[in-house]
Amino acid sequence: MKHSGIRVENLMKQFGEGDNAVSVIKGASFEVEKGELAALIAPSGAGKSTLLMMIGCVLEPSSGKIWLGDTLVYDNNWSKADTRALRREKIGFIFQAHYLIPFLNVLENVSLLPLTNKQSEEQATQISSEFLTYLGLEEKLHAMPSDLSGGQNQRVAIARALATHPEIILADEPTAALDIERAHSVVKLLRDIAKSQKVAIIMVTHDERLLTYCDKILKIVAGKIETIDNRDFEEGQNNPVI
Ligand SMILES: Nc1ncnc2c1ncn2[C@@H]1O[C@H](COP(=O)(O)OP(=O)(O)OP(=O)(O)O)[C@@H](O)[C@H]1O
Ligand SMILES: [Mg+2]
Repeated sequence: MKHSGIRVENLMKQFGEGDNAVSVIKGASFEVEKGELAALIAPSGAGKSTLLMMIGCVLEPSSGKIWLGDTLVYDNNWSKADTRALRREKIGFIFQAHYLIPFLNVLENVSLLPLTNKQSEEQATQISSEFLTYLGLEEKLHAMPSDLSGGQNQRVAIARALATHPEIILADEPTAALDIERAHSVVKLLRDIAKSQKVAIIMVTHDERLLTYCDKILKIVAGKIETIDNRDFEEGQNNPVI
């Protein structure tokens, strides 16, 4: 059975009006199921961040449809006027610069969002320390972001994205600041999270070496999406399947 996480139909985005109008996304259609890690690739300026921000309910499309889980969140209009609510309920974001709050410790950074989602302090702390432990940071719960390495900071950002139990994780070049070894381990981790938490993940990357971990490759070509099934590759790589 299919578990649709993200579905996009004929999505378009143009910036500007009239003679100055520039069409960036020109009818993108694709699907990422829950449990799948998809890579989004294209040259610089092709519209990767634009597409991700539309799926993340941050940037309004010009037209088309977006489903997140079972909810049609965009159908020429947002389904809820308050798109913040859509984001909070469904989506975890991971960015290249991880924007941890410098004066909060690791645990406080991760539990902030569950707390604003009306969980009790006890619940928020528990779930946050569980995810941080899962990511190998159990000894850093009370450390400050400035005392962590780049890779550790990135794992805190991943824990923070997971802590609200999103159906969807959107990651814009999450490994850009890491060396190749850490980049490999972060992407493997994202794949394991997709499988074990049944999350649909889209990750923008420029690094072809990381595509081997992805179930699917979404390539922007002339403003549309070409979907490449990558699971055949994976089998040959002796990757563990969870
Ligand atoms: N707010 C905006 N107004 C006008 N044009 C924009 C705006 N945001 C993005 N663009 C244009 O849309 C195109 C796609 O930008 P986008 O940031 O999505 O590319 P990208 O694929 O993420 O590139 P990179 O790999 O460099 O991050 C670019 O030509 C950019 O100039
Ligand atoms: Mg970008």
